[in-house]
Amino acid sequence: MAAKVKKAYFCKNCGFEAPKWLGKCPSCGEWNTFTEEIIARESGPVTANVAGPLPTSCPQRVRDIRESEHRRVDLGNPEVNRVLGGGLVPGSLILLGGEPGIGKSTLSLQIALAANGLKTLYVSGEESAEQIKMRAARIGIGNDECLIYPETLLENIIAQIAEQQPDLVVIDSIQTIYTELLDSSAGSVSQIRECAASLLKYAKTTGTSIFIIGHITKDGAIAGPKILEHIVDVVLQFEGDSNNVYRILRGIKNRFGATFEIGVFEMLDAGLRGVDNPSEILLTHYEEPLSGIAVGASADGVRPYLIEVQALVSAAAYGTPQRSTTGYDARRMNMLLAVLEKRVGMKMFQKDVFLNFAGGFKVADPGLDLAVVAAVISSYYDRPIAEGVCCAGEIGLSGEVRPAPRTEQRISEAARLGFRRIIVSGYLPKGAKRPKGIEVVTINNIAQLPKALFLE
Ligand code: TYD
Ligand code: MG
Repeated sequence: MAAKVKKAYFCKNCGFEAPKWLGKCPSCGEWNTFTEEIIARESGPVTANVAGPLPTSCPQRVRDIRESEHRRVDLGNPEVNRVLGGGLVPGSLILLGGEPGIGKSTLSLQIALAANGLKTLYVSGEESAEQIKMRAARIGIGNDECLIYPETLLENIIAQIAEQQPDLVVIDSIQTIYTELLDSSAGSVSQIRECAASLLKYAKTTGTSIFIIGHITKDGAIAGPKILEHIVDVVLQFEGDSNNVYRILRGIKNRFGATFEIGVFEMLDAGLRGVDNPSEILLTHYEEPLSGIAVGASADGVRPYLIEVQALVSAAAYGTPQRSTTGYDARRMNMLLAVLEKRVGMKMFQKDVFLNFAGGFKVADPGLDLAVVAAVISSYYDRPIAEGVCCAGEIGLSGEVRPAPRTEQRISEAARLGFRRIIVSGYLPKGAKRPKGIEVVTINNIAQLPKALFLE
């Protein structure tokens, strides 16, 4: 007789567990996401407990709790330190997500190799030791205390971590490791959940920091279970256009710091190089001014940078105009086009509009609204924007221009890069600093924008 098998159905999107197959997930509302997984054979339900139970604790008064002054460890990589909020907090569990081929393995190996003074263990379920060695040789081996361990069985990995006692562990990737306690295959929702939970327990009881790499599905979710995002302390996303050399490391969740920080990297032959000054790569110097190009002063995190946006507005050949964006939210663009139509009287309904941000960057900064609209206006009238002019401001539905967060920093960055005029909201607080060397033009409504752009 076949062994008694316990099965359950899991939603691939959010990790919701159900005893039978469902067409629509009651938790996240997605359709057709349920898959069957074996969770245990014979004996009843099993939950992985590889790392043992958490130490018991009892309630204490807030003021009595000793602060383990969050000592931060320098990882030897300024961009990663910045995104983590100023270095690595020991004992943290960090999820590094990204599409296949974007450079997650390269980045994490580089972290393990650069973390001088830390004992690091790089566990790979995807590549052999020789392959990793080849990559390490290209990147340059700075840390002699870096161990490479190709393994996929969680029990072995935990045993090795316990034996070697590293300060930092990299698991490449969570989708390739599995625990013997579950019968489902590696990469299934239950395996991912149990392995991550065991690693979390280990990290918290021993103070070991663990980087977990997770592949991302097409729609941008960390593959399979969103559930991982709840378990870990920090979620970092590595993104970029794989046809382009620039990559952004974005903090999506951070229990030890701000989430809006970004790190910028360039993928070279010898691994990833941090880009200290993103504006330099995001601005192109043209021989002669071209229409449809505008520069926006953006601020992701505390670091401001300037970025170029290109728009192409052309007569629509068919009844329904085409609207397409790269690196920008299409709905936001449609909203801005509707505002232009209604408040400035531009006939956008007969136009195809294409929008593109430089460097394959994805931007979501509302402070770039003004630059997007400026590029559209410039292409619509086929008039280049005057040289050395940039913008920073958010646009409301009535066409009002609102101040972008951290406008002062944006203005300073524009001044530093030699821009001679920046267009910002007139609703800025009175006492706002005005750096020297740049003309700050304030407008309250987008109807005033064309004049400011073309220096009329
Ligand atoms: P990889 O780190 O393997 O991506 P992931 O782990 O996210 O799937 O990186 C993949 C790409 O990076 C690969 O196409 C080759 C490129 N690469 C370089 O350009 N330079 C380098 O030094 C390395 C190691 C990789
Ligand atoms: Mg990889």
